[in-house]
Amino acid sequence: MVHSRDDMVGLDSSIISSPKVWEASGHVAGFVDPMVDCKVSKLRYRADQLFYAKVELVDDGGVVGYISLLDCGDLQGEATKLAEKLKRKGGKQGTIKLPLDIKDMTKATEDELVLIPSPATGEPGSLTPPRSFNLMFQTSVGALSDGSSTAYLRPETAQGIFTNFKNVQSTARVKIPFGIAQIGKAFRNEITPRNFIFRSREFEQMEIEYFIPPEEEVWEGFYSGWIDTAWSWLTSIGMREDLMGKEVHPKGDLAHYARACTDIVFKFPFGQVELQGVAARGNYDLTQHQASSGKSMEYFDEAGKRKYLPHVIEPSIGVDRLFLALICSAYAEDEIVGEKRVVLKFHPSMAPIKVGIFPLVKNKPEIMEKARGIHDQLKKRYNVFWDVSGAIGRRYRRMDEAGTPFCITVDFDTLEDDTVTVRERDSTKQTRMKVDDLLAFFDREING
Ligand code: GAP
Repeated sequence: MVHSRDDMVGLDSSIISSPKVWEASGHVAGFVDPMVDCKVSKLRYRADQLFYAKVELVDDGGVVGYISLLDCGDLQGEATKLAEKLKRKGGKQGTIKLPLDIKDMTKATEDELVLIPSPATGEPGSLTPPRSFNLMFQTSVGALSDGSSTAYLRPETAQGIFTNFKNVQSTARVKIPFGIAQIGKAFRNEITPRNFIFRSREFEQMEIEYFIPPEEEVWEGFYSGWIDTAWSWLTSIGMREDLMGKEVHPKGDLAHYARACTDIVFKFPFGQVELQGVAARGNYDLTQHQASSGKSMEYFDEAGKRKYLPHVIEPSIGVDRLFLALICSAYAEDEIVGEKRVVLKFHPSMAPIKVGIFPLVKNKPEIMEKARGIHDQLKKRYNVFWDVSGAIGRRYRRMDEAGTPFCITVDFDTLEDDTVTVRERDSTKQTRMKVDDLLAFFDREING
């Protein structure tokens, strides 16, 4: 995405920035989630992740009541179970009208609100109407601790790209169309961090702002191009395509400045949710920063002898979320010579450990020394793992579980002919190979 292209440059901008940046970008006023509080349990829920449904009986059998539940993989299935439970509890007879009409709490009317039970207590009457809750982490800078010292930890890396647009463009001497890419920490005061590393308060983002000319007819080509690039990159690093999908945001749900947005979604065990967003954001951000700072953000197009504020296409993905999806894609269970094994079939380029190195026995100094030499040589290039304990089969299994694509065993023959056994994780195939050929082999297998 960056180094292998000519139209992309990298950036590492600051994490703490002036509140003026976040006022200009609209985050101070608008980076909010709608929250619902339970007044009894004091628990807080994101209104768009708390669901409810009215439970009715067929043939005008009447209303049984309301159920509520949190976001889960099988919303309709779980809601139906809760509805049946409610019917039994209320001593009602009859068949429940299915499927249930499940809505999130942002849609609840005032009349419904008093009837919907809190998921914490199971009783109605304690949920508040949805209220806006700002997700930004606030801190103070300098010696003073009053309103004037307020600063924010960035909730996205994107704004650092916009505020540095002119610096980067003029120093890197890049011409539109070009992109600025950044990987770095982002912080959000998420109310419901959960599902392992899917949603956390401190996470790593990878974002690109790809700057394009402002003409109406050009953005769509770049936009669909970036969706395709993102998709094929994800599959090239081992993402399971049968678990991936695309969700196009309906026009009515877009921010007023946005032209289009597509989410690449992934079917996690807890449900199908956003993995990556690709948005056509117009020139909203540069316009805002230009107006707020009073400094021109315009690009001078030498060929056309004109100045303009470029528009952007923004592919954005969470690194943590990406790895969770890769783990889900790689997880497999199989049977090798009658023994069950759990294996992470990571693409070699993504595997955290590339090669496991095992001396067959630890009481033969020559074997230990030879294996150490191979380990030290490979370590310069790859993250490798040294393991001397247990039977070779056990050591292979441990590496399979960690997703290590290759293992090398150094044995007695190595001392004779300078060959080692290279064992491949997925096929468990073992090949005898010259020590001198190892680097070229791994380079081919890992880097492609
Ligand atoms: N600049 C656009 C932006 O930040 P976003 O949809 O809020 O858009 C982009 O975030 C990506 O960052 C998401 O698709 C997701 O992969 C990741 N992400 C967002 N919030 C996250 C969180 N709390 N924990 C982990 N990853 C998160």
